[in-house]
Amino acid sequence: MILSLRDLVVSFRAPAGDLLPVLGPISFDVADSQFVCVLGPSGCGKSTLIRVLAGLQAASAGSARYQAQLIQAPSADIAIMFQDPNLMPWRTVLQNIALPLELRGMPRQQRHRIARALLPQLRLNGFEHAYPAELSGGMAQRVALGRVIVQQPKVWLLDEPFGALDALTRERLSLELLRLRAGGEQTVIMVTHDINEAVLLGDRLIVLSRGPGTIVDDINNTLPRPRHVEMMYQPEFIRLTRRVRAAIDKPSG
Ligand SMILES: Nc1ncnc2c1ncn2[C@@H]1O[C@H](COP(=O)(O)OP(=O)(O)OP(=O)(O)O)[C@@H](O)[C@H]1O
Ligand SMILES: [Mg+2]
Repeated sequence: MILSLRDLVVSFRAPAGDLLPVLGPISFDVADSQFVCVLGPSGCGKSTLIRVLAGLQAASAGSARYQAQLIQAPSADIAIMFQDPNLMPWRTVLQNIALPLELRGMPRQQRHRIARALLPQLRLNGFEHAYPAELSGGMAQRVALGRVIVQQPKVWLLDEPFGALDALTRERLSLELLRLRAGGEQTVIMVTHDINEAVLLGDRLIVLSRGPGTIVDDINNTLPRPRHVEMMYQPEFIRLTRRVRAAIDKPSG
């Protein structure tokens, strides 16, 4: 198991001073190379879960482990991407993609060479000197994805990476995501609100309850790979979307 959560709880202190649980208790294990999609109502703790896995948020109780080690700080093996591409507006596409390597102290020529080699797969050829303001939303997200991939992390944490895009751009980008993960060896935890997207991408679909989020359903998605948009019309695809939908709609308590 590459990731392992045991009775994880995250609480925040309310303005009045009392501790409010926002996530958990939640336990699950993620196998190496699994693509997990996490769904659940707004405010149920999905981003909090991602932040714990990224080492950006401490557990209040229970544990989160990566390769059996407690996650206590960000690690080079685990990269995170948010809904907002968070690009630095004064930096070019190439400089934005190369940023994580720069933070590691890699010399300029070397990091630019590595980042440049990613441009064709990111479909950003010819844009290496463009600035974020000159990019479409989809292109900006591809730059943000490039910034994840350039780190060659073992785990990709994606928090609604395509949430701000229109439906067709998002569908195209989610298939590009699968292509970019071509070998399929990375472990992915992706939060999404889009049930079709989750079923199209995931090996496993975890549905959380209203906050504090606990697991309502944990669904194995055995649709074959490579995945195609045409699969969305197959009975098995529709069965899975219905099951996710039912879990989301299930009254809690
Ligand atoms: N730093 C913080 N301090 C206090 N409360 C917080 C903090 N971060 C998150 N929360 C609260 O925790 C709860 C869960 O937040 P979180 O962002 O994890 O939800 P989410 O499932 O990602 O929601 P959405 O689908 O809207 O993105 C919310 O009620 C939020 O207000
Ligand atoms: Mg969120």
